[in-house]
Amino acid sequence: MEVLEELNRKGYIEEEIDPMLDLFAEIDKLKKEKNAIILAHYYQDPDIQDIADYIGDSLGLSQEAAKTEADVIVFAGVHFMAETAKILSPQKKVLLPDLKAGCSLADSCPPHLFKKFKENYPDHLVITYVNCTAELKALSDIVCTSTNAVQIVESLPKEQKIIFGPDKNLGAYVAKKTGRDLVLWNGACMVHEIFSREKITKLKSRHPEAKFIAHPECEDAVLEMADYIGSTTGLLKYTINSDVKEFIVATESGIIHQMEKANPDKTFIPAPPNNSCACNDCPYMKRNTLEKLYLCMKNEIPEVTVPEHIIAEAKKPIERMLEISASLGL
Ligand code: 13P
Ligand code: SF4
Repeated sequence: MEVLEELNRKGYIEEEIDPMLDLFAEIDKLKKEKNAIILAHYYQDPDIQDIADYIGDSLGLSQEAAKTEADVIVFAGVHFMAETAKILSPQKKVLLPDLKAGCSLADSCPPHLFKKFKENYPDHLVITYVNCTAELKALSDIVCTSTNAVQIVESLPKEQKIIFGPDKNLGAYVAKKTGRDLVLWNGACMVHEIFSREKITKLKSRHPEAKFIAHPECEDAVLEMADYIGSTTGLLKYTINSDVKEFIVATESGIIHQMEKANPDKTFIPAPPNNSCACNDCPYMKRNTLEKLYLCMKNEIPEVTVPEHIIAEAKKPIERMLEISASLGL
């Protein structure tokens, strides 16, 4: 009971850790002992990225979660990502270092309101961005990520009417790219909405050679200025394949760790937020720490669970996304 209360209050279990303990070595030991795999999103702290077995964007992480043979999936990311792993691998134990690692975008779309919204468009197909709760996925026809949203919409007949949620910015970007008239839910990510067009313009004039790259969760006014728009994996690949030496990056700052590792001779400048007190860190992603990761593996809590009836409904649109992605070679 006490453990549950602490999890509800804090989201994780606090335990004193010997400061002399080599956490990297201990985590490695636990991985072997428990046949566990650590899946980490690019927005995690560099230490967590460095200990992970797989680092990727939302699509890559779902694909890895679907195929892993590990008994335990330790998800270094946010709650909706761990839920997706559980839905795809319900027989496995899925751990999340901090249960309060949520998502402002997922929170912007409460399933009971979305259900009512959907009732207004009975002849529409529902495509939801993976950044949403398991309940919302259960109300959807196809899930998508920022890597495959455009291709998934394009794979449907032109006359097919579509509701797209919860991200209005990604939805507007997809509508623009495909020329489709999508019905959008009015949700957004707090991290990708803070970039300042004015400050980016000034920064670009000080770095005229730099390429400006942006995630499609950013607002249209920012995306309009971008030399390249893509998911986190797309942005990383672009920096690797480009001959340019300087990049201004409009997404969460964690991805810069992999960009610097892959391109030691290039410079990466985080795009400036509109408020000088703000930063490009996702407060939810950054709730996970190496210490919490170690403790969750040692104690096998917090565990992410999803009710069976939700798994049954939410699995279909996620599997549909994975099938379409595989057929398109994504
Ligand atoms: P991708 O992982 O698809 O690039 O999305 C970024 C994001 O906001 C995850 O929370
Ligand atoms: Fe959610 Fe935005 Fe954080 Fe991604 S970056 S987890 S969309 S709040």
